[in-house]
Amino acid sequence: MAIDQCIGVLTSGGDCPGLNAAIRGLGKAAIDQFEMSVIGFRDGFRGLVQDRTMRITSEQLSGILTDGGTILGTSRDKPHKMPIGDRTEDMTDAIVETYERHGLEVVVCIGGGGTQKNAMRLLEAGLNVVTLPKTIDNDIAETDVSFGFDTALQIATEAIDRLHSTATSHHRVIVVELMGHRAGWLALGAGIAGGADAILIPEIPYDAEVVADAIKLRAKRGHRFSIVAVAEGAVTLDEQAKIEKLVQQKKDAQDKEQKRLASEELKKFHEEHVDHTLRLTSQLEASTGMESRLTILGHLQRGGTPSAADRLLATRLGAACAELLSQRKYGLMVAARGDSTETVPLEKVAGFKKLVPLDHPWITAARLVGTCMGDR
Ligand code: F6P
Repeated sequence: MAIDQCIGVLTSGGDCPGLNAAIRGLGKAAIDQFEMSVIGFRDGFRGLVQDRTMRITSEQLSGILTDGGTILGTSRDKPHKMPIGDRTEDMTDAIVETYERHGLEVVVCIGGGGTQKNAMRLLEAGLNVVTLPKTIDNDIAETDVSFGFDTALQIATEAIDRLHSTATSHHRVIVVELMGHRAGWLALGAGIAGGADAILIPEIPYDAEVVADAIKLRAKRGHRFSIVAVAEGAVTLDEQAKIEKLVQQKKDAQDKEQKRLASEELKKFHEEHVDHTLRLTSQLEASTGMESRLTILGHLQRGGTPSAADRLLATRLGAACAELLSQRKYGLMVAARGDSTETVPLEKVAGFKKLVPLDHPWITAARLVGTCMGDR
């Protein structure tokens, strides 16, 4: 039976491998199986504000499965804090107008943690939304995994493999910084798969001297090189104590001004934290006496064609999403659950983060093979 449904779709947040596969999975099932019409909004939530669209046809979806990035474009713009000139403005009303103008029944928002929160804001503003979980960080709550992660894991692992050549030939310490935002999934996974000698993740605050001691011990045992995989969000014990203090100050704030000051301090801390791996590299060189180098993998980790696993996952999630829309079920995220998918109420996802649990089998395995995790 033909369903007369018009759906919108956007991709928001950092690009990642599998976005096009998800758009294709959703679009093909929606158009070909459920006879819906699909409108793409360009550059994330900004496209909804400015009504910049791309009508999506089945033909356009052919040939994009293997492409990196997103045919829709993306941005980190938030509906309630949209940069307009040198100010930010709440543009939720403009989004509602666009939604109504097109007679949309739902907007599918494909994105990471920030996108889930922004989608929740639109849900609260009265729009129907459904989300899909994408991010190389793998930190979205309530889903086993997000697409993009597997590809980034492969890229980062290959990078660590390749860094071994220089490390062993020059008898160096190589610190490799991996993405992951405030979660350690990528550094931990790639660190284990690439055989890193030390892995530092945000969930386990580290002591640089513990890492230096582990490197010195390896050298004493004849291994005159070490690879240290560091998550971009990893922190020392002192830094963790500072974060906890600021978070507490924010919670205890008596008024708006006190809260704003604590938030600003926290923001400043994170901004200044960006070159922490450079500081760590110098510190390790000084403590071990071994020549040390830093490699920051950066955006390489999320570029290019998605892995087979990500193409499969993104297609499954996209297709399952179309099926859900055909049942007119909204306010949900389509999550990956084993080989299947499940729906989760958006309020259980938005504002939550999936960190690596300290008793996670990956951490246990890393420790069992003798990897230094930076703690005593
Ligand atoms: O969320 C994905 C991610 O790649 C994070 O790992 C990283 O912290 C961030 O995006 C980088 O953002 P941008 O591309 O805006 O520099």
